[in-house]
Amino acid sequence: MKKLLKGQTLRWTANPFTIPWADAFSHITHGAVVVENGTILAVGDADKLTASHPDADITDYGDDLILPGFVDTHVHYPQTAIVNSWGKTLVDWLNTFTFPEEMRLADPDYALDIANRYLDLALSNGVTTMCSYATSAPESVTAFMGAAQARGMRAFAGKTCMDRNAPDGLTDTVLRAYDESKSLLNAWHGVDRLSYVITPRFAPTSTPDQLNALGALWAEHPDCLMQTHLSEQPQEIAWVKDLFPDALDYLDVYEQHGLLGDRGLYGHSIHLTEREVASLDDAGAAITHCPTSNTFIGSGLCDVAGLTARGVPVGLGTDTGGGSSFSMLRTMAATYEIAMLRDQTALHPMQLLWSATAGGAQALHVDDKIGTLAAGYEADMVILDLSSTPAIAQRAARANTIWEAVFPTIMMGDDRAVRDVWVSGQKV
Ligand code: GUN
Ligand code: ZN
Repeated sequence: MKKLLKGQTLRWTANPFTIPWADAFSHITHGAVVVENGTILAVGDADKLTASHPDADITDYGDDLILPGFVDTHVHYPQTAIVNSWGKTLVDWLNTFTFPEEMRLADPDYALDIANRYLDLALSNGVTTMCSYATSAPESVTAFMGAAQARGMRAFAGKTCMDRNAPDGLTDTVLRAYDESKSLLNAWHGVDRLSYVITPRFAPTSTPDQLNALGALWAEHPDCLMQTHLSEQPQEIAWVKDLFPDALDYLDVYEQHGLLGDRGLYGHSIHLTEREVASLDDAGAAITHCPTSNTFIGSGLCDVAGLTARGVPVGLGTDTGGGSSFSMLRTMAATYEIAMLRDQTALHPMQLLWSATAGGAQALHVDDKIGTLAAGYEADMVILDLSSTPAIAQRAARANTIWEAVFPTIMMGDDRAVRDVWVSGQKV
């Protein structure tokens, strides 16, 4: 059954960090998107598309904005129930709140409950694709993959490997990390819209042997993504220096163990040296910027403008539960605020929206499938009401351009702005 969605449409035509943002999009006020069998057939003028697809079932969203679904490139779904736990910085926060909660997901029923709860929250915020850490329990990967598969979503996840500096109930071993990751990879990678991600949590919780084993697994499966954390807090960086005295710096730990590559995703990447930035750039690796987490647990101000200007791909991540929100609107707002606070760079709303959609898809190497509204792309969409609260509506009423109309929703919007979400051509 063909479906036609009417509304304002925004389509990305280029990366707005490499050419002027004004040349990187096309906006149609009375636009439409035609979808069939989970795929976008056409994007264009509503009257023309209505005439050329008379058989389509029409949903009229009026002035609402039709966008590609949001892509959250860094989240810990197992931390859903402990989001906004008060008063700790990274290492204490992990030990006090995170590790005890992650231990609970060894129970497959609890893992499935949290996976369903998280995915419902993500979808209600317009997030149609995410790249999530699970816990060290294989059951937590199985629960998440099954729940995402049941919703028809394009989703990424992996078993979070740790063989030291975590409680006994949460650590694995070198061999278990390799074997369990491999068997989950074989079970889920490429099934429907799911991808397995090789996931060493971060340098302090893996022995050199475990990092090597996961580097070897990645070499055997180079089409997989690999995700980890990098240079989030100064105390963590000092700890890595103690644990790996021979490494040049934090990134070099990963490089020495086969864990640097163009399909690598390096979470946070705040306190980088020039050598590390150059090395990420040479490798073609992506970083994930997690602004609400970086403020909430006091990590610092990531140089998004500097990294993107050098061509390093940057995806946005909520990083819940270290991040304080499931909303990519809130995440874009925090991205804007941090760039302003760091060096008074005003990121344009086009750059923010692109980062939350196509930029994330690029970091995950699926920018040929999702992240933009164009024929042939998968039909994952979020429909935004640009007047969802009185405060937003009165500001949007003064707007002269689509960007003035959308910026108040980026800065003040939440799940009330999400009118509808479509996954694989179906309204969910
Ligand atoms: N570093 C290692 N593990 C984590 C985690 O779960 N959250 C955050 N924010 N940083 C980490
Ligand atoms: Zn994280």
